[in-house]
Amino acid sequence: MVVEAQVQVHAGLEGVVVAQTRMSKVIGEEGRLIYAGYDIHDLAEHATFEEVAYMFWYCCLPNRRQLVSFEDSLRSRRNIPFHVMDLIRSAPTTQSHPMSVLRTAVSALALGDPGSNDISQASNLRRAADITAKIPTIVAAHDRNRKGLEVIGPREDLDHASNFLYMLHGRMPSEVESRALNLYLVLLADHEFNASTFSARVTASTQSDIFSAITSALGTLKGPAHGGAAEQTMLQILEIGDPDNVEAWYRAARAQGKRIYGMGHRVYKTQDPRAVHLQRATAQLAELGDPRWYQIALKLEQVAREDPYMIERKIYCNVDFYSAPLLYYLGIEPDLFTCIFAMARVVGWIGHLLEQYADNRLIRPRSEYVGPAELRWVPIDER
Ligand SMILES: CC(C)(COP(=O)(O)OP(=O)(O)OC[C@H]1O[C@@H](n2cnc3c(N)ncnc32)[C@H](O)[C@@H]1OP(=O)(O)O)[C@@H](O)C(=O)NCCC(=O)NCCS
Repeated sequence: MVVEAQVQVHAGLEGVVVAQTRMSKVIGEEGRLIYAGYDIHDLAEHATFEEVAYMFWYCCLPNRRQLVSFEDSLRSRRNIPFHVMDLIRSAPTTQSHPMSVLRTAVSALALGDPGSNDISQASNLRRAADITAKIPTIVAAHDRNRKGLEVIGPREDLDHASNFLYMLHGRMPSEVESRALNLYLVLLADHEFNASTFSARVTASTQSDIFSAITSALGTLKGPAHGGAAEQTMLQILEIGDPDNVEAWYRAARAQGKRIYGMGHRVYKTQDPRAVHLQRATAQLAELGDPRWYQIALKLEQVAREDPYMIERKIYCNVDFYSAPLLYYLGIEPDLFTCIFAMARVVGWIGHLLEQYADNRLIRPRSEYVGPAELRWVPIDER
């Protein structure tokens, strides 16, 4: 009999390092996030989303000429093919979650693309720009179509954030709104080996194409333990309804053993560095809209931070906590939040995919078999 060596199972792959990356680094205990060498606080203050995308894909910040050419390339690719628009229009309006529509539409972008299986660097960069530029158009078109509103096409004279808000609302966003969305996109663009990035890389490691890898990532991002958390956080805030209800709501939720959405993180065991910037931008937007949503979030954070249960487990606000009211102030429906997350994270996924394709090894972990052993086949009439 062969005696098998004792195996150690890393449930959830917690703490397991599976690759090297130049994209980003999370220092959980210190609450630090670094993109390609730059501290997130520096980027939050100065970067545009387009600059961050360029930096991830070309491994350096663009100079002025490179940035203009990169922005032009994205702007010229915003229109979506007819078959994708038909698919959006044919999605049942009340029963289709926007993330399901986005996942299906991105997958459909590969249809009719004769080079969609080409995984060379040049082809991937072209398709990367295509996917990144078209995601906002898909999201805005579906939202307007489901509301019975006329679909508004993209404008080439607007930056990524402003163009999205324009297509969604049919009006030019204010500077404060565009800046808030740009900040959100910068802050959510990458986060080391999070679940959706990992699933994108697993797909690419089989030498499958970039459309398939991004489709995998979108499916993974959708879950409420990952990208779906901001939507749940906003529903939580809306359910609370008023800052005066926060304490009673929190006590009841905790008594029922409910998780508080927008709090806790697998890696950060202190303040998430992105939350500070999102809070500041949300406070600015709250001055121009209904302040209640921001006040509820602020009070909920304070109540949770005083709870010994949260203190012992080092549970702080994560990136989704203030993202929720920020996106809501931008007039975005809660069920669209994960799509906006995808608009940001797609550039990180692509950076990781470029790394994976450039130095690929099939990702194929093992499992420990714990089922029955030595069973004998039982004919069907004897079972
Ligand atoms: C993100 C998350 C899945 C990370 O969790 P994790 O590292 O796997 O940690 P665990 O699920 O093992 O939780 C550890 C402990 O903290 C508690 N906990 C974690 N997040 C909590 C939350 N948001 N509210 C209440 N309790 C929470 C768990 O109940 C567990 O308690 P226990 O030790 O008594 O069993 C988790 O914090 C969570 O579910 N948060 C809410 C959803 C969310 O905001 N997700 C977005 C992440 S960016």
